[in-house]
Amino acid sequence: MKKNILVTGASSGFGLLVANELHKRGYNVIGTSRNPEKNQSSLPFKMLALDITDDHSIKSFGKQLFTEIKQLDVLINNAGFYLSGLAEETSIEQGKQQLETNFWGTVKLTNEILPYFRKQRFGKIITLSSIMGLISLPGGAYYAASKHALEGYFRALRFELKEFNIKVSMIEPVGFKTNIVTNSKVAENKISDYDEYRTTLEDYTKYLFTKSEEPTAVVETLLKLVENENPHFNHPVGKGSTLFPAVQFFSFKTFENAIIKSINKFKK
Ligand SMILES: NC(=O)c1ccc[n+]([C@@H]2O[C@H](COP(=O)([O-])OP(=O)(O)OC[C@H]3O[C@@H](n4cnc5c(N)ncnc54)[C@H](OP(=O)(O)O)[C@@H]3O)[C@@H](O)[C@H]2O)c1
Repeated sequence: MKKNILVTGASSGFGLLVANELHKRGYNVIGTSRNPEKNQSSLPFKMLALDITDDHSIKSFGKQLFTEIKQLDVLINNAGFYLSGLAEETSIEQGKQQLETNFWGTVKLTNEILPYFRKQRFGKIITLSSIMGLISLPGGAYYAASKHALEGYFRALRFELKEFNIKVSMIEPVGFKTNIVTNSKVAENKISDYDEYRTTLEDYTKYLFTKSEEPTAVVETLLKLVENENPHFNHPVGKGSTLFPAVQFFSFKTFENAIIKSINKFKK
């Protein structure tokens, strides 16, 4: 029997790429989007409507999913977005939206699936965290908070689900070329005291994004995670993804100085 795999946020970026690849490999893929009708005709796998910030959408999605399929093998929690901006310049409202999607949306969707996984006595949950779930950089405080929260949450869940044979893993990519920048939101409350630092940081971030890699390595890691019977918890992917968290762990000062030095190169 074909394995059933659910990929949230399969209309774009990592989600779209991995869903296509899994379909090619013979899995039965169910993708989700807030506007599934927009892409369905061009996609070889079924798309269902899901907004992870909307409780009704999650409930009706859950019902529909388990009328389409009798069992689910893997949940890939991929849906999310990036909120950039200095912490103090970000309104609490915008910050909450970031957490509502990246953290609470992912948790709520997982909770919708868990009763089915427990009933089956098997399942696998793979969640898109980020390098920002392991380290924190200026200009992305709320994004980092949302991804750190996911790391903490799923680390605990991994223990709790062991007796039900439900595997829990994370993936922590650095910057990769997807539509994440186009779809990102920006802090709206500008404070003039930060003008110089903000400009420097924007130039540094732009530079980082121009250097971002094609998403192949992330897709490959996700495929390995789907196929591995017993994956471990963390899976950093991309240049510096293991080095930065390790340096931070052993000497926060060294890590901090290296980041400040790289940013200061962009000072005018
Ligand atoms: N690209 C990177 O450099 C990078 C690095 C580390 C981690 N990540 C993480 O990887 C994941 C995928 O990002 P990406 O880079 O592939 O970005 P992307 O191209 O912008 O794709 C984001 C996907 O998330 C979905 N989505 C956004 N908000 C949603 C909501 N409220 N409910 C349901 N679906 C929602 C979008 O679907 P619709 O708009 O169709 O609903 C879209 O399919 C995210 O969790 C991101 O934080 C990305």
